[in-house]
Amino acid sequence: MHRLEKEKLPRHLAIIMDGNGRWAEQRSLDRVVGHQKGADSVRNIVRACREIGVPYLTLFAFSSENWSRPRGEVEALMALLREYLVSELQEMLDNDIRLQAIGDLSRLPKEVFSILSERVKQTAPATGMTLTLALSYGGRDDIIQAIRRIMANCRDGNLTPEDINERLFSMYLWSANLPDPDLLIRTSGEVRISNFFLWQLAYTEIYVTPTLWPDFGKEDLIQALLSYQDRERRFGLTSEQVKTGDG
Ligand code: IPE
Ligand code: IPE
Ligand code: MG
Repeated sequence: MHRLEKEKLPRHLAIIMDGNGRWAEQRSLDRVVGHQKGADSVRNIVRACREIGVPYLTLFAFSSENWSRPRGEVEALMALLREYLVSELQEMLDNDIRLQAIGDLSRLPKEVFSILSERVKQTAPATGMTLTLALSYGGRDDIIQAIRRIMANCRDGNLTPEDINERLFSMYLWSANLPDPDLLIRTSGEVRISNFFLWQLAYTEIYVTPTLWPDFGKEDLIQALLSYQDRERRFGLTSEQVKTGDG
């Protein structure tokens, strides 16, 4: 941890937590056991991010496409999510963590939705770290719901097409209150976005590790952060412009 430069931490870290199924299959266990282990990694990584001082952490926990998995697996994932929300309240309150969720939450089982809403309310005053769970989330869904609301506002005369710019569009996305991610980590070696933040990742640094999510711990997180701190983010400028601050 002392190897990290405090002033060069990502403001917003997003993680595609992948590889639970393979972790279990490698051990001839049911995929659900992998998801259970994955939930333990969530607990560890949330705690580690809070300790390290990452202000915004977003975890891609369930995609809009994941609804098409076998029913038993979807049910097990929803049960684990419920369990997580029940078990982590005290931890969130003790550590000043604010919970929020983004995605098409109307598709969640009623009971999960209601406990999630309760947790969001209970943790709303916290300012230590914002933990965002992307649940039933699809980047394309996000863009489409934003366009629908923008169009409705134009139709009702509250907005004109000329008002639309990058800033305004970002404000209509589910991630409206989050800065764009500085670093995206994907575990399990897959080099793809899988319909996660499509708009928001425009200039995000990407770190892919072969480590499967249930094996991903604090040391792996630190390795990812060190890799991030070693990079030069140019945003289209030349290296010289970045170094002299002349851009
Ligand atoms: C990530 O692990 C968890 C979810 C997508 C919900 P996977 O279940 O995708 O694990 P693999 O990719 O099959 O190993
Ligand atoms: C992405 O993982 C979604 C989450 C981690 C929640 P998937 O396992 O669903 O992605 P693909 O299908 O391999 O691209
Ligand atoms: Mg996967």
